[in-house]
Amino acid sequence: MTNRELLDAARRGMENSYSPYSDFKVGAAVLVDDGTVYTGCNIENASLGATICAERTAMVKAVSEGHRHFQKVAIVSSGNFFTYPCGICRQFMVEFMKDGVVVLEDKDEGIREFTLEELLPGGFTNDDLKTQK
Ligand code: THU
Repeated sequence: MTNRELLDAARRGMENSYSPYSDFKVGAAVLVDDGTVYTGCNIENASLGATICAERTAMVKAVSEGHRHFQKVAIVSSGNFFTYPCGICRQFMVEFMKDGVVVLEDKDEGIREFTLEELLPGGFTNDDLKTQK
């Protein structure tokens, strides 16, 4: 699965975006270890805080199908520029792909990969839950 193919899957996911409040469509595609791809879109709500981002939609689909480790997450938007994951999504990614990569595309600058370590250094993990004796 190339980054181009994963971004194209994210773009197909974006077609179902429900974003009447922001009018900003986002799509995402998660590549899991066995090669399966799960797509997602942002889903907004009249109670704006209940909105879920595209990448979390895709990740929740993957986890609910039994996957526990992702290789990559691609994100696209109607803006056609690099659409970086929000803070909550970065933290959500750390749980399932601490060693993973985020793939973004900008219409002028092309495709770029970011490690999750670059996007969220020191993200909170299970190790941080251990209490001192
Ligand atoms: N959005 C995402 O889907 N992913 C992000 O990481 C950033 C924000 C969506 C949420 C909302 O529907 C719209 O973009 C504007 O914030």
